[in-house]
Amino acid sequence: MTSSRISGFHKFTRTQRLQELIQQGLLTDREAAELGVEAAASGDLADHLSENVISVMAVPLGVATNLIVDGVDVLVPMATEESSVIAAVGNGARACRATGGVTCEADAPCMIAQVQLTGIADLPAAQQAVSDKKQTISELCNACDPMLVKLGGGFVDLEVRIAGPFLVVHLIVDVRDAMGANAVNTMAEAVAPKLAEWTGGRVGLRILSNLADRRLVRARAVWPASEIGRNTVQGIVSAYEFAAHDPYRAATHNKGIMNGVSAVALATGNDTRALEAGAHAYASTQGNAGGYGPLTRYGITEDGDLWGEIEMPMPVGIVGGATKAHPTAQKSLKIMQVDNADRLARVTASVGLIQNFSALRALATEGIQRGHMGLHARNVAIVAGAEGADIDRVAEAMIERLEVREDVARALLAEFKG
Ligand code: MEV
Repeated sequence: MTSSRISGFHKFTRTQRLQELIQQGLLTDREAAELGVEAAASGDLADHLSENVISVMAVPLGVATNLIVDGVDVLVPMATEESSVIAAVGNGARACRATGGVTCEADAPCMIAQVQLTGIADLPAAQQAVSDKKQTISELCNACDPMLVKLGGGFVDLEVRIAGPFLVVHLIVDVRDAMGANAVNTMAEAVAPKLAEWTGGRVGLRILSNLADRRLVRARAVWPASEIGRNTVQGIVSAYEFAAHDPYRAATHNKGIMNGVSAVALATGNDTRALEAGAHAYASTQGNAGGYGPLTRYGITEDGDLWGEIEMPMPVGIVGGATKAHPTAQKSLKIMQVDNADRLARVTASVGLIQNFSALRALATEGIQRGHMGLHARNVAIVAGAEGADIDRVAEAMIERLEVREDVARALLAEFKG
């Protein structure tokens, strides 16, 4: 590479950008052409969604089967590069069909916008001054988005907190079917100058909080012991307790939950990072000792079956952002028969719960590797250069030898090719 300073790169066409990368010796002509072909099918969409675009990064979009959420069957599109994730949802969802699948409760879709005020000498007095202006603040917020108000959303509540040397004002806003970042950020920016005036402070940051704890979803399912086995019931409860006592385990436990949640979010054009941030921030209070802990809980019913529950923030929307703009996101929502954010939040939380159940089931019994191995071995075979029927041949041979590695795959491939 000669230099990363490329004047006007953002104004180049996609082809010009690829050309630039060829000139810098970073891509061959063939690689650039391949990136061009991959992007072609999506037309201008990528350029509208992001910047300095050279191509698109394709991620598999699969459909998880067998799920029932609040009594209604649903097929769930999931976008993920990780093998076994989608299959795990199908298996875990099948195992709780006899008990009705997953049942959810969801908060109203309320997001929090924060306004930071600095340089205030008497914080308690300023806190009171802002609290007294709740009605005016409500009017200022609602004036920003009359359409949202018409749809039944808008300003809901005010919280005024002292955080260290700062006064922090929370605007709590019902954002209806949106994820809501744009709506609440606009309100925070509109209200901030008034807050400064009333408190004598200076305006600092004005932005939503990703700790969306006013927008929680709770989902619950029961897996019959007759279906999963008594040892598995015990094993999953013990795995949960491990996570509840140990943040090192809880982080991995929650990562598994997010395998499902983020895959649904990506498939529907939602902000995966917002969900991840909210989930882990919320988890930071869920441990047994009050620190970081698991987002799910498990126990045993009177009949000896396994119950599982998840509770987590679920800031997902079906309007605005990539959800509306991306045709694949639209098709994902169509497959799910989702026409409001509440249903999407419930289905997504249910996927998180089922994903976690399946991971714990595998971990508490045969271990995760056996199930992973088949798909992982195919990936390794592909990376080693296998194509067509050779992919399965190489993968099967590696599994048989209990050696799933790229060097082994290359050797097998060479052997098969004679
Ligand atoms: C892997 O992506 C996810 C798991 O590690 C989750 C867990 O350990 O619970 C299997």
